[in-house]
Parts: sequence; structure tokens; C-alpha cells
Amino acid sequence: MLQHQVVVITGASSGIGAAAALALAQRGARLCLLARSADRLAEVAEAARKQGAVDVFWQSCDVRDEAAVNDAITAAHERFGRIDALINSAGLSLNGAVNGYALDDWRTVIETNLTGTFLCCRAVLPLMMEQAAHPLRGQIVNLSSGAGRNGIKHMAAYCAAKFGVIGFTESLAHEVRNDDIRVSVLLPASTATNFSRVARRAEQAESSDIGYALTAEEVAEVIVAMLAQPPQAWMSEVVLRPLNLERKR
Ligand SMILES: NC(=O)c1ccc[n+]([C@@H]2O[C@H](COP(=O)([O-])OP(=O)(O)OC[C@H]3O[C@@H](n4cnc5c(N)ncnc54)[C@H](OP(=O)(O)O)[C@@H]3O)[C@@H](O)[C@H]2O)c1
Repeated sequence: MLQHQVVVITGASSGIGAAAALALAQRGARLCLLARSADRLAEVAEAARKQGAVDVFWQSCDVRDEAAVNDAITAAHERFGRIDALINSAGLSLNGAVNGYALDDWRTVIETNLTGTFLCCRAVLPLMMEQAAHPLRGQIVNLSSGAGRNGIKHMAAYCAAKFGVIGFTESLAHEVRNDDIRVSVLLPASTATNFSRVARRAEQAESSDIGYALTAEEVAEVIVAMLAQPPQAWMSEVVLRPLNLERKR
């Protein structure tokens, strides 16, 4: 079902985005990989080719930068001729108490997680609207988090951004559902990636999943399942938690 589909992935240099790239490569997708670090993108691209991606394009892109996002999406569209799906996985957290939290850190977190998601969605939408539906015109999966539902001490900026991603995604989804474009939001629990090495301690302090984490590969498989739903079915929001299978991470 995902064979030859053109999928743009932000945050593809690491963690969930990189795992999604490899999972989609195994399904024969065509990939556009975006993140800031060129070296790691090149490595993921190479691994994706080895795992079966039909074509892989990557471009260094800061999702906070409007011109860079538009340029990357235009370049991907010129190469592939269409964009079937966008996965917004670029994200970070800068943890700290609100009392004394730097405005620059607030802006970095909001702009990366929320504004970046908006900019990437806005860049692909006109292209998706114009292309023929087969059977959908396009799909978008935005990464929120368990922190998009529950406030967490010392993660106020990140929680604000991820709560925002849910509201943004729901609103956009209603805007475009009659245009054959499916927009969904995924809320993973703590996942063992670079991100969680920074954020996990704070997140788990408030979590009922203390001691357990998903793997990036498990989250990636759920993203694949969301993209591969029957066209008429719309998994609008997915909350993903780990079971306790005796593998504390
Ligand atoms: N890990 C968890 O516990 C967890 C749980 C729930 C939700 N999430 C969400 O899942 C998504 C992926 O996180 P992850 O766990 O895979 O973390 P990760 O391994 O740290 O990956 C984050 C990715 O975002 C990219 N990125 C950060 N800032 C960027 C920017 N300004 N422009 C472009 N790319 C940027 C990073 O690449 P560069 O540094 O190369 O730019 C990297 O590829 C995030 O949205 C995160 O909030 C994570």
C-alpha cells in the first residue's frame, strides 16, 4: 500500500523520524528526509536505500525557518512530482522551571515543535490539494506526545507546544477532510531515543509508565499503520503507551 508513496519526514536524522524512514523504506516508499544535521541524514538515507527505499532525497532544513522549509518541500516535489505524506517528527525539549525560564528557550521549543509543524503542513498542503487523489490526495501525521495531554513539571514550554500540536492538528484535519487529505496526531509515551535521554527523567516523574519506554521502531510501526489505513478510515488521534513486557529501559 505504501509502495512508491512519497513521504516527507522531518526529524529524520534521529529517533522516531529515522526509524519511520527505515520502516517506510522496507515498504518501498520514496523518501524525503529533513533535519538540520547533514551527516546523520546522509547515514539514514544510505540505510534507507539498503532497506529497500525506491528513492531517497535528503536536505538539511531547520523547520523553524520558513524559507528553508518551503525550499525543501519544493525540492522534494520537483524530484518526485508529488508528496503523498508528511510526518512531522522534528522536536525537542529544553527543560526547566517556569520561574527563570529563558525567553529564548521558550521560543526555541515552541518554534521547533509547533511553528515547525505548521510551516511544514502549510508548505505541503497546496501541493497535496493540486494532485490527483489515489485514493487520497495526501496524509499528514503530526507528533505530539503524552506531554500534549498532561502537564509535566519543568516541561511547561514543551507541554504547551505539544498541547498546541493537538489543537492545530484537529483544526487542520477538519479543514481538509473534505479535500481527501487525512491529518492525524500521534501521542507516544516515553520512547528510548536521544530525546528521552534528555527529557525522560522529568516526563517519567509524572507518568504512570514509570520504568518502561517504547522503542523508536515500535512508534515507527504505528506511524506506518496510520499511513496504511483504508482510505475511508481516519485514525484521527492515536495515544501510544508501552506494555510492561519485562524489559525495563
Ligand atoms: N522520545 C520520546 O520520549 C518522545 C515521546 C513523545 C513524543 N516525542 C516526539 O517525537 C518526535 C521525535 O522525537 P525523538 O524521540 O525521535 O527525538 P530525537 O531522537 O532527539 O529526534 C529529534 C529529531 O528532531 C530534529 N530536530 C530538532 N530540532 C530541529 C529543527 N529545528 N529543525 C529540524 N529538525 C530538528 C533532530 O534532528 P537535527 O538535530 O539533526 O536537526 C532529530 O532528527 C519529537 O517531536 C518528540 O517531541 C518523543
